[in-house]
Amino acid sequence: MQGGDLTEEMFGKFRALIYKVAGIKIPETKKVMVSNRLRRRLRATGIVGFPEYYAFLTSTGTAVEMPLFLNEMTTNETYFYRDIHHFDWLNETFFPQIAEEGRLRKRPKTLRIWSAAASTGEELYSIALRFLPLRPLFSGWQVTLLGTDLSVAALDAARAGSYDERAVRLVSQAERARYFEFDSKTQRWTVKDELRSLTTWKSHNLLRPVGEEPFDCVFIKNVLIYFDAQSKQAVTRHLIGSLAKGGYLVVGPTEGIYNMLEPLEKRRSWLYQRAAV
Ligand SMILES: C[S@@+](CC[C@H](N)C(=O)[O-])C[C@H]1O[C@@H](n2cnc3c(N)ncnc32)[C@H](O)[C@@H]1O
Repeated sequence: MQGGDLTEEMFGKFRALIYKVAGIKIPETKKVMVSNRLRRRLRATGIVGFPEYYAFLTSTGTAVEMPLFLNEMTTNETYFYRDIHHFDWLNETFFPQIAEEGRLRKRPKTLRIWSAAASTGEELYSIALRFLPLRPLFSGWQVTLLGTDLSVAALDAARAGSYDERAVRLVSQAERARYFEFDSKTQRWTVKDELRSLTTWKSHNLLRPVGEEPFDCVFIKNVLIYFDAQSKQAVTRHLIGSLAKGGYLVVGPTEGIYNMLEPLEKRRSWLYQRAAV
C-alpha cells in the first residue's frame, strides 16, 4: 500500500499542521480517515511516503500543495435548505424588513450577505433562491451574495453549480423548473444563469478577517464543530467584526459559539444581531 502505515508521530504532525493552518482539530480517532485521504495525495504527487509528503508540504510544495491537501482534509457535506427555518426567516422577515428600511431611506440601497463556509455552494444558492422572488422590492439596489471557503475544490464545484438529487431534495418542483436545468443523462441539476449571476465566490480562511465591506447577514454553519475554543474565539471575533450595524449572524446548531457572541443581541436561538447604533 502506498505510503505504508501512518505512524502515531506522523499522524500527530499532520494533525498539528491542519490545526495551525485551518483551525481544525482532527480527533485522535480519525487516523484511518486521515491516512486514506493522505494516500490520495501521495498517489497524485507520486511521493512515496508520509514523512516525505510532510516535508514537501511544509517546504517547497507549500504554495501549490497546501490547498490540495486542505481539499482532502475538509469535510464538505452540505445540501440546499439545510435547517430550512433559517431560509424561511430570510424571505418572511429579513428581506422585507431590509427592503422597507431602504424604501423609507433609513439605510443605503445595498444588501450584502455572506455564506462564510459555503462548501460546494448549496447554502448561498439557497439564500439566492429565497431572494429572487422578492427581487422587485430591490430594484436599483446593489446586491452582493458572497460565498467563501478554504477548499478551492469546493469553490470550483460551487461556481459550476451542478448538483445531484440528494443535494436538491428540499428544493421545490417549482423552483427546480424555474431556476435549474436538469440533465437526464447525468441526472444532475445545474443552476441557471439567473441564479448563478447573483453569486460571487472567493477563497478565504476563517482564521483571518475577510477584508470586505460590512455584511447585513452572515451565515456560519456546520464548520466550527472541529475547532477548539481558541480557534472558535478567533473566528467569532472576525465574524462579529464583519457585521454591519444592525447586521445578523445566523449560527448553525453545532458551532458551539453561543457563549462567545456577547456583543450581539440574541433574537432567536440561532439568530444574533449587532446593535443598530
Ligand atoms: C460541512 S461544510 C458546511 C457547509 C455549509 N455551511 C452547511 O452548513 O451546509 C464545512 C465547510 O467549512 C470549510 N472550512 C473548514 N475549515 C475552514 C476554515 N478554516 N476557513 C474556511 N472554511 C473552512 C470546509 O472546507 C467545508 O467546505
